[in-house]
Amino acid sequence: MEKLVSLCKRRGFIFQSSEIYGGAGSVWDYGPLGVELKRNLKDRWWHAMVRARDDIEGLDAAILMHPRVWEASGHVAGFTDPMVDCRVCKARFRADKLDDAQCPRKPSRKPGEHSDCDLTEPRLFNLMFKTTIGPVEDSASIAYLRPETAQGIYVNFLNIQQASRQKIPFGIAQIGKAFRNEITPGNFIFRTREFEQMEMQFFVDPAADHMQWFEFWKGERLAWHRSLGLAEDRLQFHQHSEKELAHYARAAFDIEFDFGGSLGFQEIEGVHHRGDYDLSRHQEYSGKRLEYVDQVANRRYLPFVIETSVGADRTTLAVLVNGYREEVVPGEQEGRVVLGIDPRIAPVKAGIFPLVKKDGMPEFAEKLARELRVRFPVFYDESGAIGRRYRRQDEVGTPFCLTVDGQTMQDGTVTVRDRDTLAQERVAADRVSDYLRLRLS
Ligand code: GAP
Repeated sequence: MEKLVSLCKRRGFIFQSSEIYGGAGSVWDYGPLGVELKRNLKDRWWHAMVRARDDIEGLDAAILMHPRVWEASGHVAGFTDPMVDCRVCKARFRADKLDDAQCPRKPSRKPGEHSDCDLTEPRLFNLMFKTTIGPVEDSASIAYLRPETAQGIYVNFLNIQQASRQKIPFGIAQIGKAFRNEITPGNFIFRTREFEQMEMQFFVDPAADHMQWFEFWKGERLAWHRSLGLAEDRLQFHQHSEKELAHYARAAFDIEFDFGGSLGFQEIEGVHHRGDYDLSRHQEYSGKRLEYVDQVANRRYLPFVIETSVGADRTTLAVLVNGYREEVVPGEQEGRVVLGIDPRIAPVKAGIFPLVKKDGMPEFAEKLARELRVRFPVFYDESGAIGRRYRRQDEVGTPFCLTVDGQTMQDGTVTVRDRDTLAQERVAADRVSDYLRLRLS
């Protein structure tokens, strides 16, 4: 993880927020390559969940909502973690996660396990960030930064159903920021206080076989993570026990990814059966009927909800961890670092290099870069030895490098080097665009 954090900073994937002021606690900024990588992931999710389906509609709801939303959702009363403080070292821990924690003064021991450690009684701590709307800071103006995007979907359920004329079963999906004042954030972008969620709520008839939809979405979502190139043996399901279930859930499975090291398998997505908990609570708290009207069967009912909820940042981290490798290169002294990310989500698709800075090669390569840039993110680089330029692109996951050399000037072909196999082939410069399109499809 340390090597990855350092690479992410050095190469412009991810920076600590407000670094010049000493950093803001567990919030991160995405630099030029990071923003492309995360956007590619979000685009793939949006495509799979919204554009490629006729039974899911998109939404972009506001972060700030009416404060009653969070009373109805159960977050004001129940979105809490038990917290303990150490009176000696002032460290703060989750009371329910003490077994996984280390005492900062004696890292080989758990907090509370030795005589120099003096823990307070657990106190419940609400994870929602509070703010106020308008100039007067009184209780009437309290608002919360949403801790999940899902509630924006529930309160718009009928708006969207009526506007789109969807019939149950159908879903609503959105991507957006969520905020949680986590007690123990950490592990880079794994657990942060500001993050992005990609959530979909699928509304089903409670009288139909809703568990079949639950199983369907478990399968679809696991397949999506595999389609990102995440290794099969690093993905698994974890079923929530009664004790683990969130206040809204009837059943829940996490999709876990093996981050390795001390983190091991951790949740990257939750698939939840939320029953009619949310819609019935919003109906009660708003006083507005939220039932779906089935005109054919002449029935009104509150649908059940199957939710899929995945973190864009956590998935980005999984993709980075999954792709990072250090390799010995046969015949070379220096090894190489490769980010073996799927070419379709790689931030840069091709590096374009003139072999040397003379004989018309830079002009040819720059023109090629200009032409390709219309369709693909490409990077032109003429500085340093060619080997170094390859290494720089390997390290950021660029799947192809195109080199303009002496032969190019004679027959118009360029060398295409494959990041993973290191195989090189010659392709006519005017065919490179089609070549890349094919290899990236
Ligand atoms: N609407 C349901 C919900 O929010 P969750 O299991 O609390 O469920 C879903 O969160 C996903 O959001 C997680 O699997 C994770 O990927 C992401 N997530 C949650 N808290 C996070 C945090 N503090 N930092 C980064 N990602 C987080």
